[in-house]
Amino acid sequence: MRVLITGGAGYIGSTIASACLDAGHEVVIVDDFSQGRREFVTDRVAYAGDIADAALMDRIFSEHSIDIVVHCAAAIVVPESVARPLFYYENNVGKTLDLLAAMERRGVHRIVFSSSASLYGDPTDGQLAVTERSPIAPGSPYARTKYVMEMALSDAAHGSDLRAIALRYFNPIGADPRLRTGQQRPHPSHALGKMLDAWLERGTFTITGCDWNTPDGTGIRDYLHVWDLAMAHVRAIERFDVVTGSEPYRVINIGRGEGVSVRELAEAFQAATGEPLDIAEGPARPGDVLGAYAVVDTAHAELGWTATLTVADGIRDAIAWIPKRKELLGY
Ligand SMILES: NC(=O)c1ccc[n+]([C@@H]2O[C@H](COP(=O)([O-])OP(=O)(O)OC[C@H]3O[C@@H](n4cnc5c(N)ncnc54)[C@H](O)[C@@H]3O)[C@@H](O)[C@H]2O)c1
Repeated sequence: MRVLITGGAGYIGSTIASACLDAGHEVVIVDDFSQGRREFVTDRVAYAGDIADAALMDRIFSEHSIDIVVHCAAAIVVPESVARPLFYYENNVGKTLDLLAAMERRGVHRIVFSSSASLYGDPTDGQLAVTERSPIAPGSPYARTKYVMEMALSDAAHGSDLRAIALRYFNPIGADPRLRTGQQRPHPSHALGKMLDAWLERGTFTITGCDWNTPDGTGIRDYLHVWDLAMAHVRAIERFDVVTGSEPYRVINIGRGEGVSVRELAEAFQAATGEPLDIAEGPARPGDVLGAYAVVDTAHAELGWTATLTVADGIRDAIAWIPKRKELLGY
């Protein structure tokens, strides 16, 4: 397949690009490099620019006969979305509509959309496993931009030739195991990012929130190796026509299907480094959530995909990426 990856110079998009190339697909990337890195696309067909630039998108679609779009481009920082909601709606919703218009003009009808587990509300009944039919309660402007786009894609798929698969990612960690690309942000705000910072700076990792209704009181996430996530896209691309055959809009959870608490992640981190981590306990921050993990039956059945890498593998590759990032990006 010829795949256009928007945001293909970012953390996840660049990993998807590597996985697609390894699987023998042709890849074209468009990225405005607001967060993406030029170093991630030096050996790839890449266009610099905005997905809302109609002339650029028409040029890309006319220069390459694209079969499918994997739409990763978005602004992704939750606290920033609270401070700048209109920018988030413009970038993640308005510009995605422009992308869809460009696809329609050029007769490209397949899209895989990067959605997010942040759409799910906190469980009220102690049930931490969520299916695609679990209640939706996006808790931030960022998550709501994803929800709005899911609704728009569903409406468009039912009213036009468009077909769409929304993949709801849980919590990607790690890097391409071959270390071609990885997390380009130096201080990601998730728990593993904070553990890495504490370990590198010989500081303290503070668990924010120890009173949640979970077995050890700390929040639960479904950490997923970014390479497994990328492979889920390869499967979605390859099985797209089958998966959307009877229903033009599909939603699929992408996780390992296992809840890991912050304390358990800290234990796995210490096992990976072989060093003790200085750990403190603090209150939950505003906006923190208890969390959830994925029921992944749909991904198994529809994509023939299952995660093959462990949380320990993700931690190992996140650590291995740090010197490589320094070499490649200079920090
Ligand atoms: N990282 C996560 O934990 C996570 C979880 C769930 C879903 N997602 C989704 O996955 C996708 C990729 O996330 P990521 O972690 O790789 O983020 P990222 O910031 O590394 O990648 C996004 C890329 O999109 C580019 N971009 C943004 N707006 C653009 C525009 N208007 N035109 C062209 N390029 C643009 C950025 O330069 C960047 O390279 C996003 O849609 C995000 O919402 C991420």
